[in-house]
Amino acid sequence: MTTVISGKLLSANKRLEMKAQVESFPKKYGRLPKLVVILIGNNPASVSYVTGKENACIEIGILNNTIRLPEETTEAELLKLIDDLNNDSLVDGILVQLPLPKHIDQDSIINAIKPEKDVDGFHPKNVASLYLKQPGILPCTPKGIIEVLDSKNIEIEGKRAVVVGRSNIVGLPVSKLLLDRNATVTIAHSRTKNLSEVCKEADILIAAVGKPLFIKEDMVKEGAVVIDVGVNRNPETGKLCGDVDFENVKDKTSYITKVPGGIGPMTITCLMENTIECFLKHVEE
Ligand code: GUN
Repeated sequence: MTTVISGKLLSANKRLEMKAQVESFPKKYGRLPKLVVILIGNNPASVSYVTGKENACIEIGILNNTIRLPEETTEAELLKLIDDLNNDSLVDGILVQLPLPKHIDQDSIINAIKPEKDVDGFHPKNVASLYLKQPGILPCTPKGIIEVLDSKNIEIEGKRAVVVGRSNIVGLPVSKLLLDRNATVTIAHSRTKNLSEVCKEADILIAAVGKPLFIKEDMVKEGAVVIDVGVNRNPETGKLCGDVDFENVKDKTSYITKVPGGIGPMTITCLMENTIECFLKHVEE
């Protein structure tokens, strides 16, 4: 029997809990958490992601300021803005929506955000904390994947996990989180030989390759848990789709997530969790 895990439902429940928690903050700490999102230019996917983040803030009661800047914004201007936000005692979280225009160096921007306000968990200090198991901010999508697995009490310890994709944002950090939970982890990628056979060994298969409908039934073990991180356009229908061919694969799985309504909403929910975490550290300093 297959269970389709709804990240949307899990998110809705977590957001209700966070809303109640945030409502108690003004009395306890004298103010609400504040997230500042910076969007440069008008890449349609980025505009849509940023709207999702704004709506989540509104839903939970987190103060939100989205700063929309033109494509021509210079790196120096962006660095100055980040410096001002780093020093603003009423700002708890700073997120610069990626990708950035080509004339802005992404690493310089990520490095400029104060690690304590880096709600994405992308700053080298937070990345190092993850790998060294020190306290820090976890990246949102990997954190959301683990929360999805935990929501169904899916055992991770001792399981074979295969992560397809090795990005800094998803593949690498989720592999580390799975390893920390005592899974045996394989990171597969575009140069992996016999990719189908490798995927077929997985008790837990995480698809984060960015290729529409890439994972087919012959790559999935009977009873596997399949988590789809892809956000793609179906080349035939133009509709949003994942890296997993859901209809083709689902009957073989014990648990599977869908796109949309799976990991996407959980990523934003974890961003809200990180914002609250940064706020609490900030007000308790
Ligand atoms: N662009 C696509 N995903 C992300 C994300 O998680 N954070 C940021 N800042 N930009 C993104």
